[in-house]
Amino acid sequence: MVRSLGRLGVLALAGIASLSWASTAAGDSGAGVQNVAIIGAGAAGSSAAYHLRQFADEEGVSINITIFESNKRAGGRSLTVDAFDDPLQPVELGASIFIRANAILYDAVSEFGLNVIGTRDVEGNLVVWDGESFRFEQSDNSWWSFVKLFWKYGLAPYKTKKLVDSTVARFLKIYDAPHFPFKSLTQAAIDLDLVKLTGVTGDQFYEDSGIASLFAQDIIQAATRVNYATNLAHIHGLEAAVSMAPEGAMQVWGGNWLIFANMVKASSAGFLPKVTVTSLQREKSATTGDGASKFIISTKKTRSSRPGEAYPITFDKIVVAAPWQYAGIEAPEDLIQPAIDEIPYVQLHVTLFTSPLKLSPGFFNLTPESKAPVTVLTTLHADDKAEPGSGAAGKAGVFSISTLQIVLNPKTDQEEYLYKIFSPKVLDVSFLSRLLGVDIPDTFTGAVNADNFEPISWYYPHVFNSYPIEFPRVTFQDPVLGGGLYYTSGIESFISTMETSALMGKNVAKLIVDELAAPKAPQEAKHTTTEPGSPRFDAAPKADEL
Ligand SMILES: Cc1cc2nc3c(=O)[nH]c(=O)nc-3n(C[C@H](O)[C@H](O)[C@H](O)COP(=O)(O)OP(=O)(O)OC[C@H]3O[C@@H](n4cnc5c(N)ncnc54)[C@H](O)[C@@H]3O)c2cc1C
Ligand SMILES: *[C@@H]1O[C@H](CO)[C@@H](O)[C@H](O)[C@H]1NC(C)=O
Repeated sequence: MVRSLGRLGVLALAGIASLSWASTAAGDSGAGVQNVAIIGAGAAGSSAAYHLRQFADEEGVSINITIFESNKRAGGRSLTVDAFDDPLQPVELGASIFIRANAILYDAVSEFGLNVIGTRDVEGNLVVWDGESFRFEQSDNSWWSFVKLFWKYGLAPYKTKKLVDSTVARFLKIYDAPHFPFKSLTQAAIDLDLVKLTGVTGDQFYEDSGIASLFAQDIIQAATRVNYATNLAHIHGLEAAVSMAPEGAMQVWGGNWLIFANMVKASSAGFLPKVTVTSLQREKSATTGDGASKFIISTKKTRSSRPGEAYPITFDKIVVAAPWQYAGIEAPEDLIQPAIDEIPYVQLHVTLFTSPLKLSPGFFNLTPESKAPVTVLTTLHADDKAEPGSGAAGKAGVFSISTLQIVLNPKTDQEEYLYKIFSPKVLDVSFLSRLLGVDIPDTFTGAVNADNFEPISWYYPHVFNSYPIEFPRVTFQDPVLGGGLYYTSGIESFISTMETSALMGKNVAKLIVDELAAPKAPQEAKHTTTEPGSPRFDAAPKADEL
């Protein structure tokens, strides 16, 4: 089934690849057109563009959207790679699943006519492993298999499900008035009574809700580790609840990035792939309708080592749709006041590889004739101390090992397994040898030899700044930075998913269009330009200062 869908997927991909990204901007005469720049075409930036176009059309506001994207295509941390470099066998390297409650993604999928598939194609046992033994084992790998869970954990699974459902329901109010659109994420979190959850650790949240600690440690923590590479002690209650919500998980055939590529296309924005924004500043003189001066953006070809150059048009509004601390954008200190908080992110190693071999029972201390599991979630061992960041995996060494699907090795024409491992560190040869139960030579570098039997036939390691370490907090970076600047990544400290980033993109789009559609107060405008203590920038930084 997977392979027949594969053909469809490739057709869809080919369709996207041949699209023309040329700008079809409204009102090319320029008069009265508001130029909006979006930096980054991940979930947030693509959604911002898509919804800007929709809201602007509804309000009759004339906007011209330009999207700058460092990578060659939209999607950001939603990206696929091709197993065996075969475009017929795409696999998610980054964000891989979403759920029915993810309304923006779900609606987009149907609007764009994309195919969704369930996950977990390979049959076999799901276990929770602590580096020594299985804390939990079930023979089918559906997430909520209550009958089995009930034997061991009594009512805790039911209580958890109820708690998760009610939390999700509370969160979903943010999609509608009076909560939407929100200028302050902190305020929205307070209004929705969600700071109670973000302000405590996952441990605390479940304990306060009367959920047995055995269930939290064995099952819920396995979920926070596979979703956020974090133990319950270092993730806040809201993210710990989100981790338990992947019921009916799905993904887009061909890659979730197709959602975002289609959003970009539907926005009729000018899309500039492989272009990196290097700096942001205010223009000296010209002012927009509301009195603020326009923005100048400098860009360079992503791979070029030459300094950035000013983009030919200036912008009325800017949406920064990437984590600021990694975006590498120079800006004068007083452009963004107060400065955007630096957030500690998880450095996550994602390793994809293919092999004709199953996982070795010996790796799990099982006898050779036992059946090894196909889905391995992990939790802390009783001797482990919960640590944040790179020490979080504990004795298990990894956060998860999944047998994602059966693939076809085009060189041997044999079916093989495609594995995905999340770990805090690079996987080494000794780990891989134990995992597959064969000797992988020290010379293994991942570059694979074509003809002979290979225990690993394709190897693709990657490291991400994947998501914040979701420490408890009660304030969040707000989307409105002031003076026409907007920022989407603050929501990642609240919930980090494709959907929530897309929601923040939509929110910012609404705020911008509402502001552009509002009648101007000319006196106020004058006041802003002459306001003392808000200096203007007299000169663009010279190229060699960037
Ligand atoms: C391994 C992994 C697994 C995940 N699993 C899931 C999952 O199963 N489900 C889920 O919902 N979420 C998952 N996530 C989280 C999800 O990927 C993120 O929450 C989401 O992608 C954030 O979207 P974004 O648009 O805010 O940022 P990003 O996706 O990071 O997009 C930012 C974009 O900005 C571009 N950019 C940055 N700087 C510049 C610049 N100076 N100039 C131009 N462009 C720039 C980048 O190239 C990038 O394309 C996962 C993340 C990782 C890493
Ligand atoms: C609209 O944006 C595109 C892409 O940045 C740009 O080339 C074009 O000049 C803009 N049009 C107007 C009227 O500003």
